[in-house]
Amino acid sequence: MKSLALVVLLCLGCGLMSSSFVLASPHMWSKLILTQHWPSTFCSMEHCDPKFDYWTLHGLWPDKGQECNSSWHFNVTLIQDLLPDMQKWWPDLITPASSEFWQYEWQKHGTCAAKAESLNSQHKYFGKALELYHTLDLDGVMKKFNIVPSETYYTFDHIEGIILNFYSVKPKIQCIHPKGGKVQILGQIEICFNSDFQLANCEHSETDTLRLIDFLNVKGTEFSVCDHATPVYYPPLKGKPSM
Ligand SMILES: *[C@@H]1O[C@H](CO)[C@@H](O)[C@H](O)[C@H]1NC(C)=O
Ligand SMILES: *[C@@H]1O[C@H](CO)[C@@H](O)[C@H](O)[C@H]1NC(C)=O
Repeated sequence: MKSLALVVLLCLGCGLMSSSFVLASPHMWSKLILTQHWPSTFCSMEHCDPKFDYWTLHGLWPDKGQECNSSWHFNVTLIQDLLPDMQKWWPDLITPASSEFWQYEWQKHGTCAAKAESLNSQHKYFGKALELYHTLDLDGVMKKFNIVPSETYYTFDHIEGIILNFYSVKPKIQCIHPKGGKVQILGQIEICFNSDFQLANCEHSETDTLRLIDFLNVKGTEFSVCDHATPVYYPPLKGKPSM
C-alpha cells in the first residue's frame, strides 16, 4: 500500500517535471538580469576591501541555464580593449587585479547568454553588459533622487519606488538580513531586459534560488529580497564621510 502510494507520487512528479520541461523551451533564455552590487555590503559579507563607492557590476545573467558550455573557455585576450572599463565598473572585489570573477561569470552565465546571436562571443557578452550598465546609470539615478549612502535609514518602499518610477519596470532589490532583524542592509539590485535589450519587469525565475547563492555561498550570509517593513541601511564606504 505504502509503495503503491509512493509510485503514484513519483509518477505524478515525473509527469509534472516532464510537462513543465516541455512547456518551457529547454534551450533558450527569454530575459537577462543585469545585477549590480554595493561593494561595502558585499565586502562586509566576504571580508574584502570595498574601495569602490559606486554600484559595480556583478553579472549579466540569462533567466535560464547555467554553465551551458564547459569547453568554451574564458580568454581575456578577446576582451583586451574592454579591460579598462571592466576593471573600473566590473571589478573583482575579492581578488582585485585578477580576471577570476569574469572567468566565473562567463562560464556560469555567459556561455548560456551566448545561445543568442547577439551575445555569441565573449566580446559581445562583456561589451553588452557594460553597455547596459552605462545605459542604466543606476548609481547616477540613485544620487539624483537623493538615495545616497547614509547613517540614517531609508524605507524600502522609498528606494523601490524611485527605481520603479524611473525605469518603469519592476526591479529586484536584495538585502542582507543580519540577525536581530531591526535593519536590513541594501546589497544588490537586479534590473531585467528582454532579448531585444529593452527594459522588462524582473520576475521570479527558475534560477532564483541558485542565483541567491551565486558566488556568495561561502559564509552562510546571503542576499535575499528586501522586505517592506524593515528599515534599510545603505552603508557608506568605510573611512569615507557620508554625503
Ligand atoms: C561550445 O564551445 C565551443 C568553443 O567555442 C564550440 O566550438 C562548440 O560548438 C560549443 N558547443 C555548443 C553545444 O554550443
Ligand atoms: C586567446 O585568444 C587569442 C586571440 O584570439 C588567441 O591567440 C589565443 O590562442 C587564445 N588563448 C587560448 C588559451 O585559447
